Amino acid sequence: MAKGPVPLIAGNWKMNGLRKGAEAEIRKLARLALKPKKLNCELVVCPPATLLLAMQGWLRAARADRRIALGGQDCHAATSGAHTGDISAQMLKDAGASHVILGHSERRQNHGETDAAVAAKAAAAHAAKLVAIVCVGETLAEREEGQAEAVVARQIAGSLPEGSRAGNTVIAYEPVWAIGTGRTPAPVDVARMHDRIRAILCERFRDGEMFRILYGGSVKPGNAPDLLRIANVDGALVGGASLVAADFWGIARVRA
Ligand code: PGA
Repeated sequence: MAKGPVPLIAGNWKMNGLRKGAEAEIRKLARLALKPKKLNCELVVCPPATLLLAMQGWLRAARADRRIALGGQDCHAATSGAHTGDISAQMLKDAGASHVILGHSERRQNHGETDAAVAAKAAAAHAAKLVAIVCVGETLAEREEGQAEAVVARQIAGSLPEGSRAGNTVIAYEPVWAIGTGRTPAPVDVARMHDRIRAILCERFRDGEMFRILYGGSVKPGNAPDLLRIANVDGALVGGASLVAADFWGIARVRA
């Protein structure tokens, strides 16, 4: 039997974290992640961009930079230029990131990001040799209208640029109504959606079977075992619980 993809547990710190406090938390996480002889999953922490460089230093000092990778939370589609307030994929790379979250529902909702905009950002991420973690997911209204799968299918079709492959692209399925709410879909609904996403990826990409499909939305140490054992759930994108090292590790250790 062919081996499936290596699980990925990613932490999305969102707009949280100052140097003080963040250093202690990342050092704690480093200690926990260094305990096992070998990690059977990949760990990525995506702090605010202002912390990337410092975090790279802390992880190196703790000798944990091979165990914990870093990611940004967004990038611009252009490599440089007159884009006040934006950050390019190359800049994230330069600050120590290997990954970048793109098309998170908070960016789609609060910044009007379309599928086409997300695809352009993902192409920029690929060009900068960053792994794009592309987020998709339906709203509560869309789920209640029975549109969840159609919405996610459309988002995947529109948000993944040519040149996407399992090695440079990760899908994060995050139902919008499950983010930060403490609510999660029933395991059977997670299973159905992840199977559908796998089928979509396999239809379009030769290596569709190897893409990581993460679940995100109120993942906690308590529900992680149930969520992470579902077929085609290849890891998690964790928001709130990623801010506390013990909680993030409590999730990661399920697959570590
Ligand atoms: P949450 O956030 O774990 O706090 O629900 C997940 C996310 O937004 O990526």
